[in-house]
Amino acid sequence: MSETPPAPPSKDTLSNLMHEDRRFPPPSGLAAEANVTAAAYADAASDRIAFWEEQARRLDWGRPWTNALEWEPPFARWFEGGLLNVAVNAVDRHVDAGHGDQVAIHWEGEPGDTRTITYAQLKDEVCKAANALVELGVRAGDRVMIYLPMIPEAVFAMLACARLGAPHSVVFGGFSAEALRNRIEDARARVLITADGGFRRGRPNALKPAADEAAEGTGIERVLVVRRTGETVPFTEGRDVWWHDLVDRQSAAHTPDYFDAEQPLFILYTSGTTAKPKGILHTSGGYLTQAAYTHHAVFDLKPDTDVYWCAADIGWVTGHTYIVYGPLANRATQVMYEGTPDTPHRGRFWEIIQKYGVTLLYTAPTVIRTFMKWGEDVPAKYDLSSLRLLGSVGEPINPEAWIWYRDTIGGGRTPVVDTWWQTETGAIMISPLPGVTAAKPGSAQVALPGIAADVVDGDGVPVPDGGGGYLVLTEPWPSMLRGIWGDPERYADTYWSRFAGQGFYFAGDGAKKDGDGDLWLLGRVDDVMNVSGHRISTTEVESALVSNPQVAEAAVVGATDPTTGQGIVAFVILRGGAADKGPELAAELRDHVAREIGPIAKPRQILVVPELPKTRSGKIMRRLLRDVAENRSLGDVTTLQDSSVMDLISAKLPTSKED
Ligand code: WTA
Repeated sequence: MSETPPAPPSKDTLSNLMHEDRRFPPPSGLAAEANVTAAAYADAASDRIAFWEEQARRLDWGRPWTNALEWEPPFARWFEGGLLNVAVNAVDRHVDAGHGDQVAIHWEGEPGDTRTITYAQLKDEVCKAANALVELGVRAGDRVMIYLPMIPEAVFAMLACARLGAPHSVVFGGFSAEALRNRIEDARARVLITADGGFRRGRPNALKPAADEAAEGTGIERVLVVRRTGETVPFTEGRDVWWHDLVDRQSAAHTPDYFDAEQPLFILYTSGTTAKPKGILHTSGGYLTQAAYTHHAVFDLKPDTDVYWCAADIGWVTGHTYIVYGPLANRATQVMYEGTPDTPHRGRFWEIIQKYGVTLLYTAPTVIRTFMKWGEDVPAKYDLSSLRLLGSVGEPINPEAWIWYRDTIGGGRTPVVDTWWQTETGAIMISPLPGVTAAKPGSAQVALPGIAADVVDGDGVPVPDGGGGYLVLTEPWPSMLRGIWGDPERYADTYWSRFAGQGFYFAGDGAKKDGDGDLWLLGRVDDVMNVSGHRISTTEVESALVSNPQVAEAAVVGATDPTTGQGIVAFVILRGGAADKGPELAAELRDHVAREIGPIAKPRQILVVPELPKTRSGKIMRRLLRDVAENRSLGDVTTLQDSSVMDLISAKLPTSKED
C-alpha cells in the first residue's frame, strides 16, 4: 500500500527558520588546505558519472569496472564488472603502503580501560576473525548477525564478514531479544556474534541472555561470544564458542577473494511506517566509494595528523559508514568509546577529546542539547583546543544548538557541518563543505558534489527559492540502498512510488529552500502538523521553544483535535536554574512561540518533563509522545533508552493541561 503523506509545508507558515541570518565563512587556514574545494561542484556538474568514477579510483580494485552505472529505475548497479575486497581497502592496503604502525583505533572502555590498535594489528585481528568464521562454516553470501557493545571486536567482526563477502547485519545492542529475533529470521542468518555484555552507565549490561532468547528456535547454528564484562553467562555447549578460544588460535594470514562491486556488504534494519522493520541492503563498490569520498570531503580528514571521533554506535548506519568503512578506507586514526557521556561524570566526552587530542568530532543534536542542559561549566574544565571541525547528524539541528556547539565546544573557531542523510542513502548527501561553504546555523545547505537533491511540491514540481515541500533525490548515487532485503515491492513502493512520474527518490523529509537556494531540513513529513489548515513543522516549534533561555530541550507533536484537526503539544525540559512556574511558565512559552512564529503555532499544551523518550540512537520518539498527548495506551517501548521515562511523562499529564 502506498504511503500518502500530508501536503508539503506551505510558504508562509515555515518562515521562522529563515530569520537566521548569521553566516560563518570557513576559517582561512582550513580553506587553504581543504581536501575539497569549490571546483568539485563544477567537476561533478559537468559529468556526474565521471566524477564518481574519479572518486572510485580512491579505492584499490582487483579488476576495474566496465560500466560505471546501470540504472533501471529503481534498481541501480554501480561499477559493474569491477572486483574489490572492502576489508582490504579498509585495512590491508594501508599496511602494504607502510602505515602498519599508525593507530587505527584508540579504544576507550567505559570503566577507563583502553586498547590501542594499529593498522597492522587490525589486519591481524580481521584475518583471524575471518578464518574463525570460515571454520564456523561462513561462506560468501551467508548472513552473519552481530549483536555487540562498542568494543573493537565489533569492528573486527564487521570487517571479517566484509573480507569473506558475507553480509553482516548489525543489531544495536540496546534492542530487545524480540527485535533481534525478528531480524535474525528476516535475514535467515546461521551465525550470531555477540558478547557476555558491555559496560553502560557504570555497570555491566548483559547481552548474552537476550542473544540466547533471540536465537532460540531460529536458524542460528553457531554463536561466537566475546568476553567483555567477565560476568557469568549461560553457555550452550556445541553451539556457543568463545571468541578468545576460537579466534585467538587462528592464523593471521588470510588470502582475500575479490568480489563483484555489487556483492551485498550489509543489511541494516530501520523502522518504517509499518511495524515490520525494513532490511536496508547495501553493496560494496559504490557504497565504499561514497563512504570514503564523503568522509574525506566533509570531515576534511588529514590521515597523518587528525584524530577523528564519531560518537555514534556501531549499531546504526552512522557507525557503519563513519566509524568503520569511511574512516578506515581513508586511513583515519580514530577514537571509539564504549559508554555513555555521563559516566562516571558529565565531562567524559571532553576528557576523551583532551586525552587523545581529538580534532574532528561527529555527534547528534540531541547529544549537543543534552550537553547544553548540563551547562557550559562542564566542558570549560577541559582543553578542547585540538578540535578543528564539528559535525552533526540525525535530526535537524536548531540554530541555538548549532551556535552553542560551535562556540562552547569549538571555541568559536571550528566550522560546524550539519550532514543530512539516511540509512537508505548509505552516506552523507547534503552538507556544507568545511573549506568552501559559508555556514548557516541550522541548515544542511547544499547537496554534495555528485548528488542531486531538490524540494518539490505534492505534484513533484520543484518549489522556487523560499518555498517548502518534500525532499527528493533526483539522480541515483553510488551508496544508495539496493533494495529492502527480500521485499523488492516494498522498496519500490516506499521510496519510488510517491514521485513515480518524475523518477524521484522520496526521502520522507520535509525541506525548505531559502532565498539563496540553501536547504533546511524540517523533519519527517509525518511530523509536520496540520493546525486549522496551516501546516507547521514540529521542528520549527521546537526550535522556537529552545530559543527561549528557560528551555533546554523540546519535543513537539501534533495531537488530534476535534476543532483544529491537530493541536500542538509541546514537551519541554527546562535548563538548569529555570523554575517550573506552572501555568505562568506555559503562558510565557506560548507567547514566546507566538512571537517567534505566529499565534497559529502556539502550543495547545506545554508539559514540563524531566526527560524525553528517545530511541537508543537519540531520536525522540514522537509516536509515544503523541500517544501520551492523545491519552492513548502506550505502544512498544523496547527501543526506548529508558522506558521509565514514559511513566514520568504520563504522570505529568493530568496536572499540566493549559487552557
Ligand atoms: C533525519 C541517520 C535533519 C531525517 C544518518 C532522515 C536529519 C532521518 C539529518 C534518517 C540532518 C538525519 N538534518 N534531519 N542533518 N540527518 N536526519 O536512517 O529525518 O537513522 O530522514 O540515518 O534522520 O535517519 P537514519
